[in-house]
Amino acid sequence: MRRELEQFSKQELSEFLDDIKVEYLRYCDSGLKLDMSRGKPSPEQLDLGEDLLNSVTSGLDCISSGGIDCRNYGGFWGISELRDLFSDILNVPSDNILIGGNSSLSLMFDTVARAMLHGVAHSERPWSKEEKVRFICPVPGYDRHYRICEVMGIEMIPVPLTGNGPDMDLVEKIVSSDASVKGMWVVPIYSNPTGDIYSEETLSRLAKMDAKANDFTLFVDNAYPLHTLNGTFVQPIDFFSLCNEAGHPDRPIMFSSTSKITFAAGGVSCIAMSKANMETALPFLQAEFICHDKVNQLRHVKVFPDLASVKRRMLEHADILAPKFRIVDQVLHDRLDGFGVASWNKPTGGYFISLVVRKHTAQRVVDLCRNAGLVLTQAGAGFPHDFDPDDRFIRLAPSFPSCDELKSAAELLSIAVLLASCESIIGEKR
Ligand SMILES: Cc1ncc(COP(=O)(O)O)c(C=O)c1O
Repeated sequence: MRRELEQFSKQELSEFLDDIKVEYLRYCDSGLKLDMSRGKPSPEQLDLGEDLLNSVTSGLDCISSGGIDCRNYGGFWGISELRDLFSDILNVPSDNILIGGNSSLSLMFDTVARAMLHGVAHSERPWSKEEKVRFICPVPGYDRHYRICEVMGIEMIPVPLTGNGPDMDLVEKIVSSDASVKGMWVVPIYSNPTGDIYSEETLSRLAKMDAKANDFTLFVDNAYPLHTLNGTFVQPIDFFSLCNEAGHPDRPIMFSSTSKITFAAGGVSCIAMSKANMETALPFLQAEFICHDKVNQLRHVKVFPDLASVKRRMLEHADILAPKFRIVDQVLHDRLDGFGVASWNKPTGGYFISLVVRKHTAQRVVDLCRNAGLVLTQAGAGFPHDFDPDDRFIRLAPSFPSCDELKSAAELLSIAVLLASCESIIGEKR
């Protein structure tokens, strides 16, 4: 039966540290070279998309069901079959959906940039003309959302996630009292990296809450709507209707893509927004492109004629991913249970495990792993300006490495957690 490290005597801690260091140095000498820093699909997952590469092989294959030759210009909104498919995936009407290129992140960047340059529906002036623009950022969250805010000069307000979405009391308080709060990032299903699924109550409060800024906008990044690990799919809530019924039809702008359904670098993305927001954005969008890659759109709908076919593919992804998550979870349990120095979530979907270590040791753990050949996501990356005030959160991305590699990686990680915790407790007892 293990005891918490905190309860060890100085002598016991010192002996424990010596033993752990021997194990750690063995890893340093083992030549391990692994990257667990980003949530990339593995080669086996990419191979599931082989059918996509073979679905359009000649000009004859390039005609959409509406009779459009997808090789040519035209079809600004994207082909209707794909808008319908995203409509079913996201529970948003097809008419509100515009298909983009391969990256939803670039749609998010453009949308924030347009708001800065011109505003959204109901803006009195471009956001860049405001004295200050602030966004609520649920933490830990997706580092690239923060990058967008940083480069646009948007101040970020961190709000903790609770497991069912952000602390809504705090969100309501901030949004209702500060007119400079123009936006909020929302990853409603399998949030990166905590795996939070926003509850019905959270979504309803987001839709209904009073906002001091009447152009307050929810940037809903639905990157993982079907990305189950346990075979159960989350039923997406009709968030546009919810906002509409609450008298805030223009509040949500939603984004999604097939980056982790087909190819991370060769999928299709979409943006969904209200009619009023679409009208505000349209002159800019029409100046920006004539159409996106309709041949790739066609490839997608040939392979995925309906929602059921996408779900079947997502179950195949889950078959590859779930054992990897299980291995990491098992090794962490085997090595860390009882020591009272770390906790982690067991997500039901998405791409990440969120590891919480002793205060002020996350950076040390990441450094120790790096020195021994394992690259993790930078400590603090889940927070605005890469600053985790408690230095506690580490994002683990088990999707890319093989199961054998993950076993070694999780062993090393556990050793690093124990080593860093031991050092920190010894430091405190000094
Ligand atoms: C929350 C979230 N949004 C967006 C993306 C990137 O999406 P895309 O590939 O469509 O640009 C990721 C990728 O990891 C993500 O985790």
